[in-house]
Amino acid sequence: MLIKKAGTVRRRLTGRGFPHLGTRVLGVAVVAALGPLVTGFAGPVAVQAAPSAATTATTARVIPAPVSMQTVPGQPFTLARDTKIVVGSRSRDVDGVAAFLAGLARPSTGYPLPVVRGPGDPGHAISLRLAALPSLGTEGYRLDVTRDGVRLEAPTAAGLFHGVQTLRQLLPYRVESRGVQPGPWTVPGVHITDYPRFGWRGAMLDVSRHFFTVQETKRYIDEISMYKINVLHLHLSDDQGWRIAIKSRPRLATYGGSTEVGGGPGGYYTQAQYKDIVGYAAQHFITVVPEIDTPGHTNAALASYAELNCDGKAPPLYTGTDVGFSSLCVDKDITYKFLDDVIGELAKLTPGSYIHIGGDEAHSTPLADYVTFIDRVQPIVHAHGKNMIGWNEIAQANVRPGPATLAQNWSLADGTKPVDDPLATAAVQKGVQLVTSPANHAYLDMQYDKNTPYGQNWAGYVNVQKSYQWDPATLFTGVTERNIRGVEAPIWSETLTSIHEVEYMAFPRLAGIAEIGWSPQHGRSWDEYRTRLAAQGPRWTVMGVNFYHSPEISWERPAA
Ligand code: ACM
Repeated sequence: MLIKKAGTVRRRLTGRGFPHLGTRVLGVAVVAALGPLVTGFAGPVAVQAAPSAATTATTARVIPAPVSMQTVPGQPFTLARDTKIVVGSRSRDVDGVAAFLAGLARPSTGYPLPVVRGPGDPGHAISLRLAALPSLGTEGYRLDVTRDGVRLEAPTAAGLFHGVQTLRQLLPYRVESRGVQPGPWTVPGVHITDYPRFGWRGAMLDVSRHFFTVQETKRYIDEISMYKINVLHLHLSDDQGWRIAIKSRPRLATYGGSTEVGGGPGGYYTQAQYKDIVGYAAQHFITVVPEIDTPGHTNAALASYAELNCDGKAPPLYTGTDVGFSSLCVDKDITYKFLDDVIGELAKLTPGSYIHIGGDEAHSTPLADYVTFIDRVQPIVHAHGKNMIGWNEIAQANVRPGPATLAQNWSLADGTKPVDDPLATAAVQKGVQLVTSPANHAYLDMQYDKNTPYGQNWAGYVNVQKSYQWDPATLFTGVTERNIRGVEAPIWSETLTSIHEVEYMAFPRLAGIAEIGWSPQHGRSWDEYRTRLAAQGPRWTVMGVNFYHSPEISWERPAA
């Protein structure tokens, strides 16, 4: 397969000569405590549980770091054959979380772990309960593990699910096995109070440059939900492929989706398959945000319907990796009828409140036309009951303030000090919040170093440390925490042909971006984070996740 390599592809701001900056040294040292330890609001702290045989001492090393975690030595809980999962009042969503936990732990423990409904704390159980804990927001939870049991409480089922993901990381890594493993299944005694810093913690998967099947996309959902990611942004259309069936324009998928970078067969999701993905994501408390990239990145659409072209002539399908050569025809009314049809169908498939209209790298659309275009698209999104998100170029248009609009910023950032960014400034001056995806920190398709077999490097090499060391609230001058809706880690697939290759680029870096989105910034330390990241290695190995064994990390290995 022929892939044009970096340099010819997305490359905004390359050549601007952002200096390579030294390592940022953060304040907090690694704490390896043998006694109780409260982190308070102070963010991540590594904690070692009571020293003991390797079989019993699961250390409390969780990603994303909880807001507050106190370990209670001598109070580990051990799952046993008679352990039950107890849920309180009837709730389908809570039942779903309990079923998720049971489905995770039954195969490896070999225990029945029945889910039962009951009041109170039955002892030696894992109880999952909705509780009025307004200070935890819509996604927080409280987790108490003692010798007598595990008590997980949250105001919402989403909070319970995130708490289960924490409990999962407190269990020995062998819990990830799909076959029965030897115990003991010990969880260190902890009191955790946890809630996210940002409400938008996204991962983007480009299914256009190369297509990923429903199974592959679900696998990615499994993996990102471990780290409390709550948005899956699907880049559903680009020059190389249209990946979602639109009933009113069938050729978009059947023709526009019939190839991909390198000339492979491509593919697309039927609406039933797409609903299946959306439903699967919802079971993992992830909202799918669909993106139809416009007005550029539209060759697949232009090839499918000649009338969308200003000259009425359909271009051929495209399987290369150049950008910036295609544009919808801004002056034709049919363009907006087309978008109304597409966005209308997408909105019906989207339980979430945002539709992503792309808007990046419209190099073949003159700026005045671009502004006209975005100004006409935004009301179409609203007419279908949704809010609009676009790449940060949309800040050049007359975008509506408030939650009606989000700008996804993909500019290069410095990482150590705020830089001027005219598009970020324009967005916040228009009252629009940012989702931050600085390409030289958060783009998961950037190569780790010169030896990385996949990916690109137009934003530079992004090793694990670089992907971890940035703060969304100090990227840009004049942009503060309240201007930030959240964080997203995109992965572009020009060079990535399978979920196996996606995993190699996403892991370990995605875990760090998830932490940036969830955990308090205060006290963040690369040296401390590395020790927690090292503990993910055996989990990913057992799960079969093809992660990059970066030499920056002293990876732990599964027992022989
Ligand atoms: C982008 O990387 N063109 C959003």
